[in-house]
Amino acid sequence: MPGDHTRRFPEGFLFGTKTSAYQIEGSVDAGGRGASIWDTFSHTPGATRNGDTGDVASDHYRRLEEDLDLIAALGAPAYCFSVAWPRVQPDGAGAVSQRGLDFYRRLVDGLRERGVAPVVTLYHWDLPQPLQDAGGWTARDTAGRFADYAAAVGAALGDRVGLWVTHNEPWCASWVGHAKGEHAPGLQDLGAAAAATHHLLLSHGLGVRALRAAVPGAQVGIGLNLQPIRAASDHEEDLAAASRVDGNLNRLFLDPVLRGEYPEDVLAQHADDRPGFAVARDGDLEVISEPLDFLGINYYAPKTVCAPSRMDAARCAGLWVPRSPATDPLGAALRAVDVHRPGVELTPMGWEVEPAGLTELLVRVHRDYGPRPLHILENGRAADDYVDPRGEVHDAARIEYLRGHLGAVLDAIERGVDVRGYFVWSLLDNFEWAHGFGMRFGLTWVDYPSGTRVPKASFAWYRDVVRAGALPGHG
Ligand code: FCB
Repeated sequence: MPGDHTRRFPEGFLFGTKTSAYQIEGSVDAGGRGASIWDTFSHTPGATRNGDTGDVASDHYRRLEEDLDLIAALGAPAYCFSVAWPRVQPDGAGAVSQRGLDFYRRLVDGLRERGVAPVVTLYHWDLPQPLQDAGGWTARDTAGRFADYAAAVGAALGDRVGLWVTHNEPWCASWVGHAKGEHAPGLQDLGAAAAATHHLLLSHGLGVRALRAAVPGAQVGIGLNLQPIRAASDHEEDLAAASRVDGNLNRLFLDPVLRGEYPEDVLAQHADDRPGFAVARDGDLEVISEPLDFLGINYYAPKTVCAPSRMDAARCAGLWVPRSPATDPLGAALRAVDVHRPGVELTPMGWEVEPAGLTELLVRVHRDYGPRPLHILENGRAADDYVDPRGEVHDAARIEYLRGHLGAVLDAIERGVDVRGYFVWSLLDNFEWAHGFGMRFGLTWVDYPSGTRVPKASFAWYRDVVRAGALPGHG
């Protein structure tokens, strides 16, 4: 609950920020890097806003030292970044590039010299293009290639990195990339999306094993994007729609990873989609459910849905129905339409601002999947930031968002949930996928033409929270 008193985080709570390779690095040809599916997709006409690409992005590859100093100035004890697979294995298989690995060694060493713990994500969506040409995540072989890649990165960085994340948001990689077609590789094919889900999860389990073999004592987890899903009304059709969306987004990933089983209702939903979940083989779920050291959760917003047949009823009840299911192949398949409750603040992404949704989610995961260490690996918001005439960025809405969500984490901890860390998305403004550079999530403004960094007001606010280990009250 927000109050006018200071609320302390547990001793050793891991504050940090997070970024991903394709979104910030740029220098896509440097050091022998190969092409990824995001290079291909972002260069496809019409795929991203304004045709934006990650060719230069936030120019982090060339400004590494400056960004390390920025991270040090923030003072958070951890920083989570992703390794670009095509820098390490330009062909996605076989030869490992020492030049590629050297960049991440410099990053990791630079963090450690500044007293910051590196947290490494192995896969944040930039699959080497040659693997896509061989079927990408719809091909079982890609899971084996991922395990080889995980072993190579583990061998190179394992003596300096304690915390590892296999995958970032496998739901986005599979369903946004293969069913909605809004992300690379840009397919609209439900059977491919289901097969990609299975192989991403299989690669996760194989990656956990490969990392543990290469890095004794490695702490390994996965980062899932989860959302509380609400029905627009108590009508049975709306409740069923909410259950389908919850199945696709949340249970389809939580159940296999943490319980070793797929939710039956989700399998039934895709029974006619080929190849779909028929790609699963005996023993796969055992690999997928390899015990983890922590679960990473990315949370931005809750979601409310109605059944397509109930859109008029939802409108009558005062809900806002922003788009029809016809524009969203996944929504059409799940027979669910996103709606917004009246009066709820939306960010420029169209995402609802609701800190209590994070507490609700954390309590649910704790209740349904058992107590376990959790890290909030992503949380933050896009805002209409601008540099004012004094050269400052006063992002008050972002500060309020972070204050509310850090409070929601404390609420969950008070209710017995074992939350160990919280990472703000993001350190820097960056390439926001299909939205290009139009959406700014950073604690730091990036002037893209020049690359100049300007820490926003939220940077100083978060620095003070981290320093105090406590959330200041409003009073
Ligand atoms: C998440 C992604 C991250 C960023 C934020 C805003 O889905 O993991 O790369 O785009 O959303």
